[in-house]
Amino acid sequence: MKITPKGHSNIQDVDFNNLQFGATFSDHMLICKYKDGKWGEAEIKPYQPIPMMPGTQVLHYGQSVFEGMKAFKTKEGKVLLFREEDNFNRLNKSAKRICIPEIPKDIFMDGLHEILKLDSDWVKQGDNYSLYIRPFIFASGQCIKATISDEYTFMIICSPTTTYYAGDMHVKIEQKYTRAVKGGTGAVKAAGNYAASFYPTKLAREKGFSQIIWTDSENHEYLEEAGTMNIWVRIDDTLITPKLSGTILGGITRDSILQLAKDMGITVEERAISISELREAHQSGRLKEVFGTGTAVSVIFIGSITQGDYKMQLSKQEDSYAQKLKKTIIGIQHGNLEDKYGWVAEVESVFSRQ
Ligand SMILES: Cc1ncc(COP(=O)(O)O)c(C=O)c1O
Repeated sequence: MKITPKGHSNIQDVDFNNLQFGATFSDHMLICKYKDGKWGEAEIKPYQPIPMMPGTQVLHYGQSVFEGMKAFKTKEGKVLLFREEDNFNRLNKSAKRICIPEIPKDIFMDGLHEILKLDSDWVKQGDNYSLYIRPFIFASGQCIKATISDEYTFMIICSPTTTYYAGDMHVKIEQKYTRAVKGGTGAVKAAGNYAASFYPTKLAREKGFSQIIWTDSENHEYLEEAGTMNIWVRIDDTLITPKLSGTILGGITRDSILQLAKDMGITVEERAISISELREAHQSGRLKEVFGTGTAVSVIFIGSITQGDYKMQLSKQEDSYAQKLKKTIIGIQHGNLEDKYGWVAEVESVFSRQ
């Protein structure tokens, strides 16, 4: 791998107390190109523009996939990655669905660890801080025919982050627009999924909601996801999350929460949750908590859910599952709690394994 370190870091210019999510970038980026049927040598260089001709395919047909993962800093100053293999595998699952050639594991892992070694100062200590990592692959060939590209670019960029949403979320159940359909691309991280979600989300924001709860495309009756998070509902003391049905993204946080909740002795169900069930549980006082999970937010409490004119207000529970699960996952990610699951990997030690 060719590495050109940046001479002078930009970190002194960054106000880490006022970070807008995803708007600040660390010093370095990784770039690797696919041409003539194979991936070339990866290169790490200072974060900079990437030259592109107007006929570049990704600009026309959105042939692009991405990942979102995080690195954390322990009290001792070690940099930990959370479930990196899962993000690697999901990136390739997404790539396959969009006809993008899969990225070899050594390019992904070596690149990831090397960039984190260079930019380790950008991972700040403290439970509220992390470095959000964005690996992505896009069609970089030139042709404006609607067809599969024969050239691709894989990149990794990093962005320091702090708390994603301050406060609880107030969400609206969406029953007109659809995020994902059976046989579509909802179960992978294809760029186009997100473009299609912006308009209905904008309409919801204009009405004062922080996010949308997506429902199934056929009947708009079953809950799918909350914006770009997986959704969880606690009815009495049972925790329920929609089953992965092909239209829901299999969140890595979702998978971790499933495991943690089971190990805490919480009864967990992966199954369909209908709006009627949600309303009935709310009316009878059995709907105790609703929360979202995802890499960006970790675990976030949902304060109210609105369907049409009906608003389901949710109050904080003394024995909140969301709170307990959030504390546990953040503790593991920052190295403050024992990692029984082999989820965290230290940047230096994993790199020296190669
Ligand atoms: C649509 C969607 N659902 C759920 C998630 C949560 O997934 P993860 O926990 O892997 O971040 C994400 C974020 O990646 C997402 O984009």
